[in-house]
Amino acid sequence: KPVALWGGRFSGGPAPELAALSQSTHFDWKLAGYDIAGSRAHARVLHAAGLLSDDELAGMNDALDRLLADVESGAFLPVLGDEDVHTALERGLIERAGDDLGGKLRAGRSRNDQIATQVRMYLRDHARVVAGQVLDLADALIAQAIAAGSAPMPGRTHLQHAQPVLLAHHLLAHTWPLLRDVDRLIDWDVRAARSPYGSGALAGSSLRLDPAAVARDLGFDGPVENSIDGTAARDVVAEFAFVAAMIAVDLSRLAEEIILWNTKEFGFVTLDDAWSTGSSIMPQKKNPDIAELARGKAGRVLGDLTGLLATLKGLPLAYNRDLQEDKEPVFDQVETLTVLLPAFTGMVSTITFDTDRMAELAPQGFALATDIAEWLVRQGVPFRVAHEVAGACVRECEGRGIELWDLSDEDLAKLSEHLTPEVRSVLTVEGSLASRDAVGGTAPARVTEQIEQAKERSTEY
Ligand code: ARG
Repeated sequence: KPVALWGGRFSGGPAPELAALSQSTHFDWKLAGYDIAGSRAHARVLHAAGLLSDDELAGMNDALDRLLADVESGAFLPVLGDEDVHTALERGLIERAGDDLGGKLRAGRSRNDQIATQVRMYLRDHARVVAGQVLDLADALIAQAIAAGSAPMPGRTHLQHAQPVLLAHHLLAHTWPLLRDVDRLIDWDVRAARSPYGSGALAGSSLRLDPAAVARDLGFDGPVENSIDGTAARDVVAEFAFVAAMIAVDLSRLAEEIILWNTKEFGFVTLDDAWSTGSSIMPQKKNPDIAELARGKAGRVLGDLTGLLATLKGLPLAYNRDLQEDKEPVFDQVETLTVLLPAFTGMVSTITFDTDRMAELAPQGFALATDIAEWLVRQGVPFRVAHEVAGACVRECEGRGIELWDLSDEDLAKLSEHLTPEVRSVLTVEGSLASRDAVGGTAPARVTEQIEQAKERSTEY
């Protein structure tokens, strides 16, 4: 039978409609293990403060052990009328330890500091899982970059052919943001690693409990500095939500490219059968559903972040019940990402690239025009003039329906006195790629270095 945690000043129980609105066990039951870990740490500080005898502490721990076992086996579950995970577990504790002992554990703590602590515990654990999965994806991209060798592709800006780049360079351009996302999670954890436990409802406790000891027990670096902040702040949750949204957006940008590359028109990639889906009516179809789900779910994960920020925006200090709305968005983000990432990584690691087609398209669309301009600059021609000359070459070719390398020596000479036949040295994809050899450039030697750097970074964690 459910027990409210706050019956004393009320003439009766809550209206059923209120109870239905108020109940959160359908989502916060996930925190049961963290709540019990918190209870164990709390029992220890109550004992240290002389508020539980040795026997009582032993009895409490025994009851908590049995409660945890029953939670894990599913033998103990929340019932209708258990307002939240904390309420349900207090009922479970009292059922096991009896009213007298079970009723002692709540001294000096509040659901406000409990929940603030447990959300951090949940997020810290799951941030590690997500970070590991993001690293798996980064590793899959690095492996594809290694396999791509010096294969070129059309590099694009505005989705138009811009300059040839190495396929490996492009794949690594998707890798670095993911490595930074992992950095973000690691950096976030520094701020998440402070325990609100001991903040009580908002003002701290008068019972000489030791928040630092609880923090240590629960794997935090230390307690929060301010009990009001400890119970009211959710910036740590929102910051996690941002990083989760950033991860989803980074995946979505790669997903969009995979979807394009997988079209007949691009024809850059083939997806592995095991990582694509068919159509219920069109027998020939093989669809990039993983990439599309990644793109779609990014919208939802982003919505989780904006919904949470909107919830926080108008809240006065300290705790308000609105804060109960912080959990579903981040739980949803965690559950979405942890299902999405392994599938996405499977798709990425089994993609085959049509490197012949990519190589053929790499120089097209006058993608070597910048190479003409930069070659002229190396001959001492001011860039403004060089840009004009290279533009004139493009105009000439466009008019005649030919490519830049089809211009004859006479054509070149007619276009500019500076255009000697030597310019042809840069009118190949290989020449163009090799010439972009500063740090971070797409020259094969630089990309090889970059692969080493990315490998090193991903194994550092
Ligand atoms: N379930 C609430 C939450 O998730 C914690 C309970 C606080 N309730 C209260 N009346 N102070 O935030």
